[in-house]
Amino acid sequence: MFKDRVVVVTGAASGIGKQTATEFARQAAQVVVADIDERRGAAVVADMRNDGLDAVFVRTDLTSEADCAHLIATATFGRLDVLVNNAGIEISTPLHEMSEQEWDRLVDTNLKSMFLCSKHALRHMVGATNGAIVNVCSVSGLVAWPGIAAYNATKGGVMMLTKSLAVDYAPYNIRANCVCPSIIDTPMTDTSIGNDASVKEAKAKLNPIGRLGTPEDVANAILFLASEKSSFITGAALTVDGGYTAI
Ligand SMILES: NC(=O)c1ccc[n+]([C@@H]2O[C@H](COP(=O)([O-])OP(=O)(O)OC[C@H]3O[C@@H](n4cnc5c(N)ncnc54)[C@H](O)[C@@H]3O)[C@@H](O)[C@H]2O)c1
Repeated sequence: MFKDRVVVVTGAASGIGKQTATEFARQAAQVVVADIDERRGAAVVADMRNDGLDAVFVRTDLTSEADCAHLIATATFGRLDVLVNNAGIEISTPLHEMSEQEWDRLVDTNLKSMFLCSKHALRHMVGATNGAIVNVCSVSGLVAWPGIAAYNATKGGVMMLTKSLAVDYAPYNIRANCVCPSIIDTPMTDTSIGNDASVKEAKAKLNPIGRLGTPEDVANAILFLASEKSSFITGAALTVDGGYTAI
């Protein structure tokens, strides 16, 4: 479905991004894995290449405009079809105890990075036949998840950035959508809630479907929103949450 398409996935050294990059490559895309973690990013690409897939790693600090510009310039070779803005972090310090530095780190990683990569990607996508941007938001862009106010605020920003991109760039045949996962079983989740099976089971019960999401669940939704099968869908927020926000 993505034969010869150039796809950039940020935060692709781990979790949702790693799975998404791998799925795109399995669908014959030329994938660019971008991450600040050089060791894990290079290992992901080495694994993909061992499986005969087409991928390169570009070490990128997504909070830096110079790095984002370099990523997109390196990636494109004159062509960029899909940008997946996935990288993100969670800091769960209560708001009244959160330092200015923690706030800035969250906003820079979760929201500014998406502005910077989109800005440079759009310059290549405008004038091409079509393009797709998929942002990884969260159910916390739709409802306030308790105890992570600053994270929720960044994801609210991702939601409106997505809708604004959709509206402003539809005339250029560029679509922008986001996915809104509830808790997904990734290294981020191991850090935030711990790796204890009973805690994970309790969290899983918050979803009517009764399990945590997997990186595959989210990657499937991202590939759909990047594909021509969703050609009339833009500005949408697709929940991948086992029914969490349906209650
Ligand atoms: N895991 C969940 O439960 C969940 C739920 C909803 C939304 N999300 C969102 O999904 C996205 C991916 O999360 P995940 O669970 O796969 O996390 P993860 O921690 O497994 O992976 C995140 C990746 O982003 C990279 N990264 C962080 N800061 C970076 C920077 N400045 N520059 C470049 N790369 C950077 C990390 O190195 C890591 O490889 C995030 O945006 C997160 O907010 C996750």
